Amino acid sequence: ERGDALPRDLEGRRVVVSAGGTREPLDPVRFLGNRSSGRQGYALARVAAQRGASVTLVAGATADLGDPASVRVVRVGTAEQMRVAMHEAAADADALVMSAAVADFRPATLVTTKIKKTPRSSPDPLVLATNADILAELVATRRAGQVVVGFAAETGDATGDALHHGRIKLRRKGCDLLVVNAVGDGKAFEVADNAGWLLAADGTETELPDGSKALLASRVWDAVAPRLS
Ligand code: CTP
Ligand code: CA
Repeated sequence: ERGDALPRDLEGRRVVVSAGGTREPLDPVRFLGNRSSGRQGYALARVAAQRGASVTLVAGATADLGDPASVRVVRVGTAEQMRVAMHEAAADADALVMSAAVADFRPATLVTTKIKKTPRSSPDPLVLATNADILAELVATRRAGQVVVGFAAETGDATGDALHHGRIKLRRKGCDLLVVNAVGDGKAFEVADNAGWLLAADGTETELPDGSKALLASRVWDAVAPRLS
């Protein structure tokens, strides 16, 4: 939207962005999925390309979005496929941004034939297995100087507000930057809807203005650019 005014501060940089939701198959026709549209990740990829970066977008299931201009798009389905694609793309990248909604769990067994109704008995319980934490792995295996960014949507609860949970997640994940969005319905410990913060491992906390996904993307790259080695 303001492409001409954007700085070219990512010129010569390679960045990788994940977007959308993963889908975990139950059988050949069914999956466990989520409502991620992929719009934030696509905006991050588009803005990075406009600022001069060489961009790889690892995209799971998304709304019907056009490929961003001048971006290499790698399509994946499951969290495991996203994991493989991210590690592959991370090998020569300067910055990694995990904006995808990665399924925490997958069906423990993939049935290769369609699950049928069982007229005489109740259905089998759904047994789940835990997926790898891609962001934590990318942090653990990162190259020197590589900047790693995570996203978190948090609600307040009895133990603290969304910002509190964001700070804990930043430390647990070990990433350089964490974009925290406060979500939820105004419960006791909740803050304003759509409030957001950009938390950095060095303790810097920046409140994010309410605005478009392109604006948020610009704020993220504004924070990434000076941290690149
Ligand atoms: N993430 C990931 N791999 C997973 C789960 C999450 O890479 N298996 C990444 C997301 O892309 C996001 C960040 O981790 O950048 C935070 O995701 P979130 O779901 O908020 O954190 P979790 O560690 O899964 O914790 P929880 O869902 O219990 O809050
Ligand atoms: Ca999760």
